[in-house]
Amino acid sequence: MLKRKKQPTEPSKPMPLHVAVIMDGNGRWAKARGLPREEGHRQGVENVKKIVECAQSLDLRYLTLYAFSVENWNRPKHEVNALMRLLESFLKSQATDLVEKKIRFRVIGRLQDMPKRVGKLLEKTIEETKDFDQWTLSLALNYGSRTEMLDAVQSYAKAVQRGSEDPDALNWETLQSYLYTGNMPDPDLVIRTSGEHRISNFLLMQSAYAEYYFARENWPDFGPECFRRAIDAYCARERRFGLTGEQIQSPSS
Ligand code: FPP
Repeated sequence: MLKRKKQPTEPSKPMPLHVAVIMDGNGRWAKARGLPREEGHRQGVENVKKIVECAQSLDLRYLTLYAFSVENWNRPKHEVNALMRLLESFLKSQATDLVEKKIRFRVIGRLQDMPKRVGKLLEKTIEETKDFDQWTLSLALNYGSRTEMLDAVQSYAKAVQRGSEDPDALNWETLQSYLYTGNMPDPDLVIRTSGEHRISNFLLMQSAYAEYYFARENWPDFGPECFRRAIDAYCARERRFGLTGEQIQSPSS
């Protein structure tokens, strides 16, 4: 397992290994400017590129972005189509960049139900970057924590039927390995932009011990400076994992 790095400015506080972001407020960003919602999403994608670069420069090993939820299919058809087109052009324009920057690309969510063309591009990008192991960018697409849990339990039940799992030996480590994130560390920090204070079915089990950071800015305005502020806020917090502050400060007490 990778060790968390110490932050240069705060020698005693480790940097997060995994940061996850609920990118909210594209629609409001556009509305405030009299622009169509799609333009908010387009600016949102531009910000994704900046934040990926910033996360790598901070040496954050895992960045997970909530780009499309299982519920988002219920949005107006033209908005869903616009989001799929943006995803397609993001993948076309960024695939080479990801390879050059040695960033492994992953998807969490029901990839099999994504539109065929997008699905193919996603699989191609995953394949082309699968051997990089220093930085990982994951997009949560067609993602929801509850469907993730259903998929995990179903796969586990099938493994029991095949005889490759023993239900009497079930523990959290085994069950979590069936989640889409089975091969990733849990998020240390979950950021939500746009002033909303909801979790919206995002990484519910994985965030059991995560720190949350709620930012007022809409996603297109949540640039690298805001992102760094969120990381600084995380570094200033004390994580206890159910222990007392004294135990954390002097582990032998
Ligand atoms: C929430 O804003 C945002 C989304 C539902 C989609 C997030 C998508 C992107 C940032 C672009 C796609 C990303 C990639 C990597 C291609 P909202 O529309 O709910 O905003 P609102 O709450 O202000 O209406």
